[in-house]
Amino acid sequence: MEDDLIKRAREVLTTALVIHTDIVVKKAQGIYVEDANGKRYMDFSSGLATTNTGHNHPLIVEAIKKQAESFIHSGCIFHYEPLTVLAENMGKVTPEGIDMFFFSNSGAEAVEGSLKLARFVTGRKGIIAFTGGFHGRTFGAASLTTSNIRYRKSYLPFLPGVYHSPYPYCFRCYFGQKPQSCSMDCYEYLERLFKHIIPAEEVACMIIEPVLGEGGYIVPPEAFLRNLRQLCDRWGILLILDEVQSGMGRTGRWFASEHFGIAPDIMTIAKGIASGLPLSAVASTKTILSKWPPGAHGTTFGGNPVACAAAIATIKVIEEENLLENATLVGGHAIERLNTIKDSHPCVGDVRGLGLMIGIEFVKNDKEPYAEGLKNILDYSLERGLVLIESGVDKNIIRLAPPLIVRKEEIDRGLDILEEAIRKAN
Ligand SMILES: Cc1ncc(COP(=O)(O)O)c(C=O)c1O
Repeated sequence: MEDDLIKRAREVLTTALVIHTDIVVKKAQGIYVEDANGKRYMDFSSGLATTNTGHNHPLIVEAIKKQAESFIHSGCIFHYEPLTVLAENMGKVTPEGIDMFFFSNSGAEAVEGSLKLARFVTGRKGIIAFTGGFHGRTFGAASLTTSNIRYRKSYLPFLPGVYHSPYPYCFRCYFGQKPQSCSMDCYEYLERLFKHIIPAEEVACMIIEPVLGEGGYIVPPEAFLRNLRQLCDRWGILLILDEVQSGMGRTGRWFASEHFGIAPDIMTIAKGIASGLPLSAVASTKTILSKWPPGAHGTTFGGNPVACAAAIATIKVIEEENLLENATLVGGHAIERLNTIKDSHPCVGDVRGLGLMIGIEFVKNDKEPYAEGLKNILDYSLERGLVLIESGVDKNIIRLAPPLIVRKEEIDRGLDILEEAIRKAN
């Protein structure tokens, strides 16, 4: 039955669509998905870092059902309570000053909106993004995306006015520096951009993931993001933090920016916001978002009532079940254990992360990316009932992103399987 479905899918779905496993899901609950044969898997991918409250959380399912029974679609014709209530509630969890919202459907769409907003408000054209970043696949977002050349190949030309600067990837520093003697060349590079390539006063915005997602779950040095904030302030550049993957509690805080003590001018939010229903947001200050006149941006489906109801319930579940604290505790425990595993397995080159956004980088011959080793590890883990996904340009990094409801015993069970898989791969 599973093989048949996959065969049929191949006939009718584009070959561009990559589905990471051959699991055909019959049902899902919490951290588990179950296939048609009744085999259970622990989903430590959270459906690409999205089901932060776990699959099919009962309170979220209930909110979805209730809303679907009363009103499903507005298309910006009617007012409805969930849209406004969600904006009010989001304003309570976003960084200070971020209190106005435009809701759309996907991460890429929020990124598009944020770029348009930044150009509109500043009247400037330049956009600076960071090498290794992933911001989506629509043309504006793909113009920023450099996590892998396959997202760019054969699509030229991209949006004009976009420039890239290196993301601080300290394990593989672009400038060959060591963390202990780092002179922050990646930050200096921005100054060089301004001197050689685009005048700072013509830059509308910088867009950066506060923790790199698809690019390899990389945590930048705090000083880098703080300097970036100051640089933007100095030149009147809007700082856009793309929290599509790092937001909604993933790092143990509502938003990753809180770890670095900086606030954005604009932020993009998606993935975990509605526990799997399609919803995203451009969030900013009243001052900035009220500069958009009526009709400057819009949507048919964005802020769908059912998705908004799911998002309202998502915020409630994160709060009432203390999921930020859980992500911090369980994530901290996972990092500690992974570091022990690293000490006895030279193929584990680096372990890094915040909360339950954890990167495990595999290497061979000292620091060469070990993609084939990782593939074996993922295959073995899957066989044993653990879903893990890779990231990074060389596909040698596990992005460990279980639902924020995961318990310590469950993460340990997953790490037991992973450790065994690592042992077998060596
Ligand atoms: C940081 C970041 N921005 C934007 C996107 C694009 O989101 P979507 O796939 O919903 O368009 C992603 C998706 O992985 C992401 O991780």
